Amino acid sequence: MNQVKFLMLAAFRRYLMLFGMSLLPFSVMRVGILRLCGVRVGRGCYVGFNVICDTNFPELIHIGNDVTISHNCILMAHTGTPCDSPLGKLYKVRAKIEIGDGAWIGAGSLLLPGVNVASHCMVGAGSVVTKSTDQHSLWAGNPCRRIKTLTTDKSS
Ligand SMILES: CC(C)(COP(=O)(O)OP(=O)(O)OC[C@H]1O[C@@H](n2cnc3c(N)ncnc32)[C@H](O)[C@@H]1OP(=O)(O)O)[C@@H](O)C(=O)NCCC(=O)NCCS
Repeated sequence: MNQVKFLMLAAFRRYLMLFGMSLLPFSVMRVGILRLCGVRVGRGCYVGFNVICDTNFPELIHIGNDVTISHNCILMAHTGTPCDSPLGKLYKVRAKIEIGDGAWIGAGSLLLPGVNVASHCMVGAGSVVTKSTDQHSLWAGNPCRRIKTLTTDKSS
């Protein structure tokens, strides 16, 4: 795809997400917008208001089944700038973000390129996830660290 087409498509997605994700009243509609924009979203997910997914590389975001993404989360699958600067050359990353089944991303959290939030992992509100997490555990903070194991088994 040429650069102009790529930028136009990204701009279109940005408008869809900007308005759709804050104005549409039901999660199912917001999930529809994400899918339309190219994000892979599984079954039974809840997506809150003002969630922003990478509009340049939405196809790099894979969300499993029964995942909760609370309000104001940001999922960024790339590091890059259109500015012609030495830093722009130094930091050029594109990497998949994966969120496993049953995971929950607390409100206002930020997921950086390449992280994998494992299934049934809770990410505390306001966290900055810089590394992949493990299953059935609570992670929180900036940078996001493992806090404890979570037992979600109903029989226990
Ligand atoms: C994670 C959460 C569920 C609390 O879980 P919990 O099992 O009750 O955990 P606790 O409150 O016992 O906290 C355990 C430790 O993690 C820390 N912690 C908990 N949440 C944290 C957060 N969001 N950021 C940083 N640290 C956090 C606590 O300070 C505590 O640290 P300490 O042991 O040093 O005192 C809650 O803090 C949270 O983030 N909820 C999400 C709210 C939200 O996003 N709502 C949107 C609904 S759509």
